[in-house]
Amino acid sequence: MNSEQFIKKIESFKKELPYTRGEYVKKTWGHDLHSLCSYQGKLKPAVAHWLVKMFSEEGDVVLDPLGGVGTIALEACLQGRKGISNDISILASTVAKAKISFPKIDDVMKELARLEEKNRNSILTEEDYLSAEFGLNASVKDYFHEDTLREILLFRKNLCLENNPSAERCYVAANLLHILHGNRPYALSRTSHALTPFAPKGEYIYKNVVGKITERLYKCAKFEFPENYVKGESYWGSYENLNCEKANIIITSPPFVGMRFDRPNWMRLWLCGWNKEDFLETSKASLDRMQMSNWDVYYTFFQKCYSLLKEDAFMILHLGGSKKYDMVSELAVRAKDYFKIVDIVYEDVSNTEKHGVKDKGTTDKHIFVFMKKIRR
Ligand SMILES: C[S@@+](CC[C@H](N)C(=O)[O-])C[C@H]1O[C@@H](n2cnc3c(N)ncnc32)[C@H](O)[C@@H]1O
Repeated sequence: MNSEQFIKKIESFKKELPYTRGEYVKKTWGHDLHSLCSYQGKLKPAVAHWLVKMFSEEGDVVLDPLGGVGTIALEACLQGRKGISNDISILASTVAKAKISFPKIDDVMKELARLEEKNRNSILTEEDYLSAEFGLNASVKDYFHEDTLREILLFRKNLCLENNPSAERCYVAANLLHILHGNRPYALSRTSHALTPFAPKGEYIYKNVVGKITERLYKCAKFEFPENYVKGESYWGSYENLNCEKANIIITSPPFVGMRFDRPNWMRLWLCGWNKEDFLETSKASLDRMQMSNWDVYYTFFQKCYSLLKEDAFMILHLGGSKKYDMVSELAVRAKDYFKIVDIVYEDVSNTEKHGVKDKGTTDKHIFVFMKKIRR
């Protein structure tokens, strides 16, 4: 796509904001895989869908270096592009890998059976049980019947998500992560919330973990895929260390001001192996925490994005804004040696955004910054 075509597309995007129309408004719009596992901070699939559709072409490589649970990469894969997602969060990158590598459900079932066998041969230690004393809204152990907790602890011990797990293992993990807490019958916890594990209420009822995962996998087996879908790639780590093929376009959504991804997602991170120390120390490497004290971290971010793009390629940022903060200006200053801003599109979301979660801040507009890589 050349600059002229890009500018024309922006004009039409600005005029239509197509994801705010018709069926795209529905909260549930999107391929079933988008709902594989809840994640606080996930982009609306309809926004990802239209950005990919309008600003990339079939066969392109679409990269999201701050990819969360892979919403943009998944949309790319479903539209015949190769989606590449990267995230510093072990939780987010595991879920992204599950979604964009499209493993066969039969193979996922086999992996579940292997893990079940491993669990049967494992013995829980005092340290395993102590890990369940941790919690932010309440201790992990307060959420579950003791037998359910024992089964969850065995999975926590054996998933080993830090060791470059297979797509099949990530798929099992994503399903388990999703059903970990909530207020619906599928949830393993006492009554809580599906997105953020608010303090639990109600009875302690035993739920068979493998049985619940299997039920969900049967549902996943019915998912349908477009003929032209392409398998993507998911990486775990900071964008600084990302090493992948060069992209035709980067579409990404950096953390909104005031947002943190560790706290509202804490129990799922715990299941991925995090403990108290990780919430205090490991999370400090995340942009959401770094940008609280200094925006200069974005100099290296734009430099890295520059190096990951093909010549004359484009980059789109999806940002949050409010009367209190101006993320666009902060980022624009740090991008100017690498990218030229082509246009900025604002969407007023003051009436449409419902913030169930306190630390999402006071975002009242969404901002799309369209940029072109500078020739150096
Ligand atoms: C707004 S969220 C992106 C959500 C994503 N679009 C989705 O739909 O799931 C920003 C993401 O940046 C990630 N992040 C923060 N610091 C990072 C870093 N240094 N390297 C890679 N990812 C990082 C966070 O973990 C978070 O998932």
